Amino acid sequence: MWTWARGGDKGFTDARTRQLTSPLIADNESFRAPKGTHDVLPPDSARWQTLVARFADAATRAGYGLHIPPMFEHYEVFARVGESTDIVRKEMYDFEDRGGRRLALRPEGTASVVRAFVEHRPTTPWKVWYIAPNFRAEAPQAGRYRQHFQLGVEALGSNDADLDVEVVALLAGLYESLGLQRVRLLLNCLGDAESRPRYLDALRAHFDAHATALSEQSRQTAATNPLRVLDSKRPEDVDTIASAPVVTDFLSNAAEEHFDRVRSGLEHLGIAYELAPRLVRGLDYYTSTTFEFAADALDSAQNAIGGGGRYDGLAEQMGGPPTPGIGFGAGIERMLMACDAEGVFSVPAAMVDVFVIDVVDGRHALDLTHELRAVGLRADRAFDGRSMKSQMKQADRTGARVALIVGEQEAADGTVTVRDLGTSQQEAVARADVVEHVRKRIQ
Ligand code: HAM
Repeated sequence: MWTWARGGDKGFTDARTRQLTSPLIADNESFRAPKGTHDVLPPDSARWQTLVARFADAATRAGYGLHIPPMFEHYEVFARVGESTDIVRKEMYDFEDRGGRRLALRPEGTASVVRAFVEHRPTTPWKVWYIAPNFRAEAPQAGRYRQHFQLGVEALGSNDADLDVEVVALLAGLYESLGLQRVRLLLNCLGDAESRPRYLDALRAHFDAHATALSEQSRQTAATNPLRVLDSKRPEDVDTIASAPVVTDFLSNAAEEHFDRVRSGLEHLGIAYELAPRLVRGLDYYTSTTFEFAADALDSAQNAIGGGGRYDGLAEQMGGPPTPGIGFGAGIERMLMACDAEGVFSVPAAMVDVFVIDVVDGRHALDLTHELRAVGLRADRAFDGRSMKSQMKQADRTGARVALIVGEQEAADGTVTVRDLGTSQQEAVARADVVEHVRKRIQ
């Protein structure tokens, strides 16, 4: 008999009190992807492949190397980045392993990268990109999952505003390459160590003065982290947030100069942005430049298709040398949802270029697919000695442009029939020449 921890489905706010409750009865639900997770299957997965390859190429061309992080870290790594955030307090999948260590599945990527930086001390500037799943026990809905994938970059060791521009431009370029047009860049500056305390004081005073108008939860948050209140979507908080002081009125000269240079750099590259002085983002580590891309084609509750910013104090908080850093994370699922909503970056119609139909003995198909693949073509075939009709149907389903047909006659003549699956025109080509013939036709 199997046993299994059945945690209920309320999220894992109370993970440590979960218990082994009942032996698992293998019902239908057990063999489905857990709530809030999903399979990515062909043909849709082809879009993932292309998206990731495109991003990898762009990041590599900009000097970012691939970082492959662990899927889980010591709990403290993430606790450090969001002690007052929902992501860490309420949504983290944390657990004790068999050795009694407290670990957590990564809810986001930046903390892992900074932990790696502090651990390995690479020379700076250190620029890395990543693609990894993140785990948040959120209430699942369209565009909000318990496991989602992010593409991202992090650059540590430079405070140069041009680096902020480079990072934002990399993400803007990705959206552009996907064909997305209804995307807005929201930009803010959260200030530096000099400006931040003055702003927090003003914000705290404002929320104190309007405490009775705030929701109970925001009243509590205001006491510990008033910035977080700006993130509240609760209707009772809206007016108080709208009248709150804005961070850009409290910037030190140095912070303002930095922000001006970021803005002029973006303008120089022709990247449009909107100032969003109440954009605070959902993690505690942000300083200075922060940004988010909103897809207007998506429902506003889940329209953030990527975001990031500076976290100039994080490396030091993790025991490393004071090291500025900046990066972004962009949700793959959300980017693809935005593409669907705009009708761009569609699933490629063809799985393969060539489909080989062998109604003799299968060996011709074995050889031909092998040779076609070796010259760089995508080629597939049928198995199990199916009929000509069934193989033709399968060829059509793959979206191949060309079918190569080998029947008894072709086998005897030393030829292959090349059939254009678009026009249905056919010609006989010598077996010895057919691979080169098809390669020229397709490539
Ligand atoms: P984040 O805003 O929490 O930032 O997540 C980045 C992106 O991941 C979001 O804009 C969204 O596209 C996607 N995303 C987040 N949560 C979910 C979810 N539950 N389901 C689907 N997609 C989701 C970070 O995680 C930071 N580490 C970004 C960063 C990197 N900042 C500096 N460097």
